Amino acid sequence: MLNAVDVENMVRSGLRHMKAYTPVDPVEVLTKRATAKKDKTAKLDGNENPYGCSPRVQKALSSYREFNRYPDPDQREVRRALARYTGANPHTIVAGAGSDDLIDIVLRLFIEPGDKVINCPPTFGMYPFCTTITGGSVVSIPRKNDFSLDMPSIRKAVDDRTKIIFIASPNNPSGNQVPESEVRDLLNLDMIVVVDEAYVEFSGSSLTSMVSRHANLIVLRTFSKWAGIAGLRAGYGICPLNIVPYMMKIKQPYNINLAAQVAILESLNDIDYLQKTVKAMVAERNILFKSLQQFKWLRPYPSAANFILCAVLDRSARDVYLELQKRGIFIRYFDMPELQDYIRISVGKPEDTPAVIAALQDM
Ligand SMILES: Cc1ncc(COP(=O)(O)O)c(C=O)c1O
Repeated sequence: MLNAVDVENMVRSGLRHMKAYTPVDPVEVLTKRATAKKDKTAKLDGNENPYGCSPRVQKALSSYREFNRYPDPDQREVRRALARYTGANPHTIVAGAGSDDLIDIVLRLFIEPGDKVINCPPTFGMYPFCTTITGGSVVSIPRKNDFSLDMPSIRKAVDDRTKIIFIASPNNPSGNQVPESEVRDLLNLDMIVVVDEAYVEFSGSSLTSMVSRHANLIVLRTFSKWAGIAGLRAGYGICPLNIVPYMMKIKQPYNINLAAQVAILESLNDIDYLQKTVKAMVAERNILFKSLQQFKWLRPYPSAANFILCAVLDRSARDVYLELQKRGIFIRYFDMPELQDYIRISVGKPEDTPAVIAALQDM
């Protein structure tokens, strides 16, 4: 009979020592580490929408009566509504449980053991995480000091095992966008280019219209950031027409659950409301950026998303993070080779900015 060690030894060797993904903790857990009460805290670590979802989503979910049924595996209504929102052909759209799900589907579809995936850190950790789980090999081409892509090194790295490059635009955590001309150059390099537009509603310039003209371009989007339904998991990809049937075939059949379906449809029925919250967050981002510039020991980077990255110049980013956490202000800090001593602050409501600034002034 197998014992516990035998079973543990059966874990795929490539996964035994892989680094875990660092997710954000729920506010109840974070609050236990703070001296402030939950209603006095500011959760600025997940790039979420602090205004919440559309009231129409809330109402539709509480009155929905069909949760005993399985959702539509072909996502018909959702794909039609997404097509109206994006202007894309519904047959080029695949929806998923957050854009994380789409990252996973794309990798499972194309990557065989040993195939290479180019990752440009610092960036979203899910790309190397899902690549490793799929059995692909991560080729890391760090960004330049200003967080733009190192195009010559990317060109040099592409070989006949390279299948995919992931580019977040705006990039998390740096907030900068990739110029369209660079995406065009990447598209000429004989690999699939996945442009992750998770924050595009805050930047205003999307590449979705390029998908129909490029056989190797996939654009990923999400409802987690602008539409305030991160907890319901709703994302989608706009993909080459001939690839979509494969993606639909290999995805989990019911990956858009009924609550997410209701929330997507009602969010898209209430775009004016959601755009107002996006506008408020963009205005607040600009206020936060200016306020952060007053600190000699911080260097904030301009952002096209709903967060701001700051280099911490003469102290430890971890200490800043811990001090803010004590006061009930939850942010992210980074201490890794490509990002030593940086903090990232998500844009909150107007009352959150003075709270952050006052806490930083006390340090
Ligand atoms: C660049 C980027 N892409 C994708 C995601 C994941 O979004 P979703 O909640 O849709 O899985 C995030 C979340 O932080 C992100 O920063």
